[in-house]
Amino acid sequence: MKKSKIIDGIKISNEIIDKIKNQVKKRIQKKAKIPYLAVIIIGDNPASKIYVQKKENKCKEVGFISKTFYFSKEVRETKVINLIKSLNKDNNIDAILVQLPLPNHINKNKIINSISIYKDVDGFNPYNTGSLCQGTPKLRPCTPKGIMSLLNAYNIKTHGLNAVVIGASNVVGRPMGLELLLAGCTTTITHRFTKNLKEYTKLADLLIVAVGKANFINSDWIKDKAIIIDVGINKLKNGKIVGDVNFKSMLLKASYITPVPGGVGPMTIASLLENTLEACKNLSKIKN
Ligand code: GUN
Repeated sequence: MKKSKIIDGIKISNEIIDKIKNQVKKRIQKKAKIPYLAVIIIGDNPASKIYVQKKENKCKEVGFISKTFYFSKEVRETKVINLIKSLNKDNNIDAILVQLPLPNHINKNKIINSISIYKDVDGFNPYNTGSLCQGTPKLRPCTPKGIMSLLNAYNIKTHGLNAVVIGASNVVGRPMGLELLLAGCTTTITHRFTKNLKEYTKLADLLIVAVGKANFINSDWIKDKAIIIDVGINKLKNGKIVGDVNFKSMLLKASYITPVPGGVGPMTIASLLENTLEACKNLSKIKN
């Protein structure tokens, strides 16, 4: 039996990051605007703090400017919306991201919908989600975009594949389904109410798992030579980070598989940097 090819998200994300660094250098030479990302974080969710720190560090690494705005978990919704409104108007700011999840008293959609469609680098507001749905994507949600970049980088032809997504969140599952549809896959999005999930996963040429449950999918759930993309990041009691897929069990059965860590994770940030640069370029065109 042939061993599965392991998709190296660190390598591919570094290639993207290097390209962005070069573009920033060129922009400096041309005296063009340097991309500026504003990040808003509410409350003290430890995972969110780590993600936001990583985003800031990567921005610095490529030469972007970034600023993080911290709010306590009791903050009033209007205060956050007022900040977003002022960032929308600020010509220095190209990109705005509100780290999720938000505290329960804050209406997530109201917050997301208040971000300028041109600065919505998460691609979560209705204009950007709708554009992807229409098949004319503008700013695309970062994790699904990063997964499409991985498939592209490995020359995986998606047209006609049976793609199955597990998980229907607004952040990953739904936009992932739209990306796959756009890429010519016959796409099924499954979720917590799906009956007989295994009947779907067994049919998948391409399986994307985003459920947040350690080792949820085993090799007897997939068909031979399936391409397996694992979005999960789960911390076990012993501190080890694992995905939603039982990685070892797949290694003789899958054709391609992403590891955790080092697969999809680094691609999310790479896509965010791409989106920030794209937003900056587009806004410069609008202003000039
Ligand atoms: N929380 C988990 N993933 C994401 C993401 O991609 N964007 C934002 N804003 N928050 C998240």
